[in-house]
Amino acid sequence: MSGDEETWRAHERDALAEIAAAADADAIEEARVRHLGRKSELAQALRGVRDRESGMLLNGIRQRLDDAVSAKERELADAELDRRLREEIVDVTLPGDDLTLGHLHPITQVRRTVEDTFLGLGYEVRDDREVETVELNFDKLAFSPTHSARSPRDTFFFDENRVLRTETSPSQIHALQEREPPIYMVSIGRVYRRDAITATRYPIFHQFEGLAVDKGLTLADLKGTLLHVMRALYGPDRRVRFRTHYFPFTEPSIEPDVSCGICGGSGCRTCKFSGWIEMGGAGMVDPRVFENVGVDPGEWSGFAFGCGLERTAQLRHDIPDIRALWEGDLRVLRQF
Ligand code: PHE
Repeated sequence: MSGDEETWRAHERDALAEIAAAADADAIEEARVRHLGRKSELAQALRGVRDRESGMLLNGIRQRLDDAVSAKERELADAELDRRLREEIVDVTLPGDDLTLGHLHPITQVRRTVEDTFLGLGYEVRDDREVETVELNFDKLAFSPTHSARSPRDTFFFDENRVLRTETSPSQIHALQEREPPIYMVSIGRVYRRDAITATRYPIFHQFEGLAVDKGLTLADLKGTLLHVMRALYGPDRRVRFRTHYFPFTEPSIEPDVSCGICGGSGCRTCKFSGWIEMGGAGMVDPRVFENVGVDPGEWSGFAFGCGLERTAQLRHDIPDIRALWEGDLRVLRQF
């Protein structure tokens, strides 16, 4: 055994040197398999051991190699952890990655401005149904029985009694039926008309509708209110003028114009060289409407107005074609 012993001692020294030289997890695993694996010289010799002396020698070697492998593995793992701690530094003070945030659709932007402006005036913001009865969409608003908007050619009917509302004006009736004046409300939402789609018309659009009912309200109050709102929407230098018009539910009825924000009133393509831009409809609440909802027109007075949101967004941003507001093309919408 003594010659053998020398050979095994040399074998152990070589193996320990190899283990010590292992530079990474693969190398140490290789060394472990070679020197301690089932097919290793040592394992084979251990299987053939007959005497106590060589058993002790070989088991001693196995134990020391085993310890050396474990120690080396720990050392390599520690070094790897150190390296990662050193190299994979997270600097929490660096600015984060940009989150690409979207933004509100131009119609929603205008809608919010309108809401803010009227809340500032003490108005209630309301939201009414889009499927409306003929009674509220036409009858109570004093549309004559032969008014063209009552035709299925102009209006989407579900049946004889129900339509997609053609304007937000039925909100006036809802508000008046819900409670006693004084009332200051603005109603914003979608309306529907049977128009072909063109650059200036779309069968769905949005309106905001205002109604003020109180004692002693006049056209001057209407004008002051619209002036305030137009300045909030288009800038502080805007002026407002009224032209006479007709609506079934207001008397007198007017169409408010706002001075053109593009040319300042001197005339340009946007305002068709008139210096003014049409804003919608307005007027003093017709006494017949008050009577239709049981409000005494001798005691109460009121004004109402309605304007399109698409039109407002188009004028604010100089968008020539209304379809851009419905197509959802991000290349267009990102600009606003
Ligand atoms: N509802 C009218 C329209 O759509 C606008 C309007 C509202 C006119 C309120 C007068 C008063 O044309």
